[in-house]
Amino acid sequence: MASALFYFPEAAAPAQRLARHCGIPAEAIALRSFPDGESLVRVPEATETALLYRSLDRSNGKLVELLLAASALRDRGARRVMLIAPYLGYMRQDMAFHPGEAVSQRVIGALIAQHFDGLVTVDPHLHRTASLAEVVPGIPALAISAAPVLAAALSDGLDPRTVLVGPDGESRPWVESIAKPLGLATLVGEKVRAGDRDVSLAIAGIAAVRERPVVLVDDCISSGATLVTCAGLLQAAGAARVEALVTHNLASEADVQRLHASGIDSLRATDSTAAGTIPLAEVLARAVHEAGWLGARGRD
Ligand code: R5P
Repeated sequence: MASALFYFPEAAAPAQRLARHCGIPAEAIALRSFPDGESLVRVPEATETALLYRSLDRSNGKLVELLLAASALRDRGARRVMLIAPYLGYMRQDMAFHPGEAVSQRVIGALIAQHFDGLVTVDPHLHRTASLAEVVPGIPALAISAAPVLAAALSDGLDPRTVLVGPDGESRPWVESIAKPLGLATLVGEKVRAGDRDVSLAIAGIAAVRERPVVLVDDCISSGATLVTCAGLLQAAGAARVEALVTHNLASEADVQRLHASGIDSLRATDSTAAGTIPLAEVLARAVHEAGWLGARGRD
């Protein structure tokens, strides 16, 4: 059974890296916009197993193109189409917080389950959902952790006095899994969100950061409000330097500027989005391999 990886133009580099790690060909999908804004998707000849790579940040338009590509790959001979979505969008709205709101996690999850035969993603935002399998019912679904990759990225030239800080309880799993192999001290705050960009935070034991370097760790940056607020508290407590390390950087350019203006000296993220550079290829390839989606190398 032959496999190949198919990718959209915006993510050629990380997709090609992943294909190299998998030992399979990488094939580009062509996209064109019609004058009315609709998309034309054109795929090359498909292998029996098609791995379709697309990160679903800023995903309104991307989702439509993704479904068109999955359909075209089947038309061109793919018997199974597996989605590799390093960032899986629309997972944060996992309930109706106010009457009348759509539960996007359930809707988008069902759509993916309907159009794909399997899913691999990284650190999905499932803070109140037991497992990814619940989100995409009936297909194999793997949620892998970026923590080992983030720990490895941090280990280079690391000051052993560094304190890892998580802004809220939801960040604790990342803070602990990164701190453990590196033997670092940790602090985890408590956060209350009043609006998209309105968060307040308290960090018990924050005095411990005085004159020490701090690395803020979280699964994602969206508006950046969480890390901006956290950085302010850490600076007031006398931290020597504040860096940020996250799996998914979803922030706009303007929000990235605000993060730097808040005193965050450096901001690192995985290549799940174009804003990050820490490669996920190795962990993704391992997951795809263990899932049995590679089969024979190359085309039939
Ligand atoms: C919360 O559950 C997440 O772990 C992040 O802390 C949050 O999504 C970040 O959002 P923002 O950057 O908008 O504060």
